[in-house]
Amino acid sequence: SQTQLAATPPMGWNSWNHFAAHVTDADVRSAADALVSTGMRDAGYVYVNVDDTWQGKRDAQGVLHPNERFPDMKALGDYIHSKGLKFGIYSGPGEKTCGGYAGSLGHEEQDAKMYASWGVDFLKYDLCSFQDNMHKAQAEHPNDPNAANNLMIAAYRKMGDALKATGRPIVYSLCQYGVDQPWKWGPGLGANMWRTTDDIDDSYGRMIAIGFSQAGLSKYAGPGHWNDPDMLEIGNGKMTADEYKTHMSLWVILAAPLLAGNDLSTMTEADKSLLMNKDAIAIDQDSLGKQGDRLYESGDLDVWTKPLSGGRVAVGLFNRSWSVREVSVDLGQIGFPNGGSVRDVWEKKDLGHRSGVVVETLPKHGAALLIVGK
Ligand code: GLA
Ligand code: GLA
Repeated sequence: SQTQLAATPPMGWNSWNHFAAHVTDADVRSAADALVSTGMRDAGYVYVNVDDTWQGKRDAQGVLHPNERFPDMKALGDYIHSKGLKFGIYSGPGEKTCGGYAGSLGHEEQDAKMYASWGVDFLKYDLCSFQDNMHKAQAEHPNDPNAANNLMIAAYRKMGDALKATGRPIVYSLCQYGVDQPWKWGPGLGANMWRTTDDIDDSYGRMIAIGFSQAGLSKYAGPGHWNDPDMLEIGNGKMTADEYKTHMSLWVILAAPLLAGNDLSTMTEADKSLLMNKDAIAIDQDSLGKQGDRLYESGDLDVWTKPLSGGRVAVGLFNRSWSVREVSVDLGQIGFPNGGSVRDVWEKKDLGHRSGVVVETLPKHGAALLIVGK
């Protein structure tokens, strides 16, 4: 069922953020190898997702073939599975994908069956050129304000049904930039996750614009169905170590799918320590399946909490300013009137029993992540 399929937010790697339109079969195989050799797989990153630009042409029977960069998708899937990993792929409801490659319009069932025959375990389905169909529907029905969005939802339902009909469990990831509140209708059509915003990029400004705009969405996430603030940029090199720490801290508080988007073959120790911190991953993957939300915001300081199993609470403290600042959380305010035991996730240190206000001194653009228990 939908819930068993993504009981916790899906974790893995996706080709787009680093390899974009140049990705090859060899890149994907080496990503699979690196997931194993770096320990990423054992830390939970199991999906190996080929994003846009694998597609070639449809033949006379309508069968979509991969392009010359992907000689044999079934063999690629077998290779990924042989490493104890899962295979993800990408398409969209339109005639074309965002990269201008073939989409699934009019071939939904055929494509879904083909994915299943290749051993696909995850589909990202990207709106892109289907927006032309939506504009047309809106123009044809000027008095129906829902014409475009209804057409979009029907298109997502169509592929969801086609995936179900294959009988193979395939995680269904809606990529439509948060159009028309997918958190409200995504679960009803069997989606396991849905993008809540337009694309991330490897910049602090874009990352925090997305991350901190997720306030208020926590009630829509739960086991089997997750808000997706887009993939990780950690390791792609254009943010500072503190900025990437903010990225990871915020994404785990958000119970976001954790899809690494870097070149896994060149990971630094710093990248590894962020992506593979056990406590951070445990916050994201907590069995309660609750997304975190904002506790308070004060200028450039921001504090978020996420309820965890066992009556524990994760706290994310963030300093968006350009200077060192103290950021604090009152334990009484988050359910620990007599104090509690506090663990600092990034320092990997138990701070012992604390009560009242806990203060963290954070560098410019820095973050701290705490786990508070009885
Ligand atoms: C581009 C962007 C997508 C989305 C679409 C909308 O392709 O990359 O994130 O905004 O445009 O058409
Ligand atoms: C859109 C998506 C991205 C990526 C590209 C591929 O922009 O939002 O995540 O899949 O398309 O073209």
